[in-house]
Amino acid sequence: MSTVFPIPTLQAGTAGLQLEGVPLADIAQAHGTPTYVYSRKALTDAFVAYRGALAGRRSLVCYAVKANSSLGVLSVFAQLGAGFDIVSGGELSRVLAAGGDAGKVVFSGVGKSRAEMRQALMADIRCFNVESAAEIDRLNEVAGELGKVAPIAFRVNPNVDPKTHPYISTGLKSNKFGVAFDAALDLYRRAAALPHLKVSGIACHIGSQLLDPAPIAEAAEKVLGLVDRLAAEGIVLDHIDLGGGLGIRYRDEEPPSVEQYLAPLLAIFAGRKEELCFEPGRSLVGNAGLLLTRVEYLKPGEEKNFAIVDAAMNDLARPALYDAYHEVVAVAPRAEAGRNYEIVGPICESGDFLAHDRELTVAEGDLVALLSAGAYGMAMSSNYNTRPRAAEVMVDGERALLIRRRETVESLYALETPLR
Ligand code: LLP
Repeated sequence: MSTVFPIPTLQAGTAGLQLEGVPLADIAQAHGTPTYVYSRKALTDAFVAYRGALAGRRSLVCYAVKANSSLGVLSVFAQLGAGFDIVSGGELSRVLAAGGDAGKVVFSGVGKSRAEMRQALMADIRCFNVESAAEIDRLNEVAGELGKVAPIAFRVNPNVDPKTHPYISTGLKSNKFGVAFDAALDLYRRAAALPHLKVSGIACHIGSQLLDPAPIAEAAEKVLGLVDRLAAEGIVLDHIDLGGGLGIRYRDEEPPSVEQYLAPLLAIFAGRKEELCFEPGRSLVGNAGLLLTRVEYLKPGEEKNFAIVDAAMNDLARPALYDAYHEVVAVAPRAEAGRNYEIVGPICESGDFLAHDRELTVAEGDLVALLSAGAYGMAMSSNYNTRPRAAEVMVDGERALLIRRRETVESLYALETPLR
């Protein structure tokens, strides 16, 4: 059987599926299930692909921490010299705890609090991606109180259709993100006049899981036009941040390679001095991770057969939230003919499904893996139904390192007080 998995470092071995050199069955035995498992090589290769495609160009790749904020994952990117795109003070703390360089951090998000601004100013981050007029006033004030100058970029909304899932498209006029393109010129003039701000760049992010490079190129052209208009007024920008968004293969999608995605952008900015920044999340971690789970019960039904596994929507919310597709594979394939199953978890909701109508040959107690789960998997997990969150393991060659212990039930209510 020569299945090509979306995870490049996953392969069939004699002991069933293995990630790099480690059989998934060994990980389940050592750490239990459900467990997220990541491949250091896949993370590294994905980052190096960006760096390679940008070679010779002044550039910075800021990993979007929200996609997977585990310290183990962040430290791999920190060691590769990555920058980071954060959306909260909490994410900044994680980046620093993982050894990341604050000087390469950009701070996005529509709701930055004063406390978060202070934290980021004291850490001397690279840039605040400002998303409203009100935010520049607040940031100017907070920076003034600290005797600091805040580097800023406006996140502009280029109003292009990214042709992706409506929940994850962010660059349309109707979205809450960014400032209106036509208002940007005025906002830059205002910011340039404020004493505790330094205009540094411009940012945009049009959406996620982009499979067509055309919309981002269209946005880039618009952004460039604005950069030139600003320069004509003496507001000279040092960097241009084109956000994240490159999609990955979950099923049969054919996303552009990093080179194909970046080529039109590099052409648009050829010969320009500005530093080019990107904020990829999914394309760096999505296909470097899987969710390992065990079949608890098989429940044949009149209309449907259910495979009830020990992972649930609290561990991987994407199917329930977006009807997202994740490949489901048996870790140790069996010879018998398969059956079609609904792959569901133990949570008391009909929406608790991980996959619909998948042909599998499995028995009670078998391990299965949900693929392409490295991005927005663990990061969006919850404790619904008082389920301790999964453990996380990083595979590195022949080694498997536990990077997050499984939560204990006691820790879930440690902050609570019953009435006596
Ligand atoms: N930069 C900004 C400002 C963003 O809002 C995002 C993602 C990124 C970068 C990273 O985008 P990526 O390269 O990962 O596409 N939970 C959803 C995805 C939400 C994306 C939100 N913003 C999912 O599971 O598909």
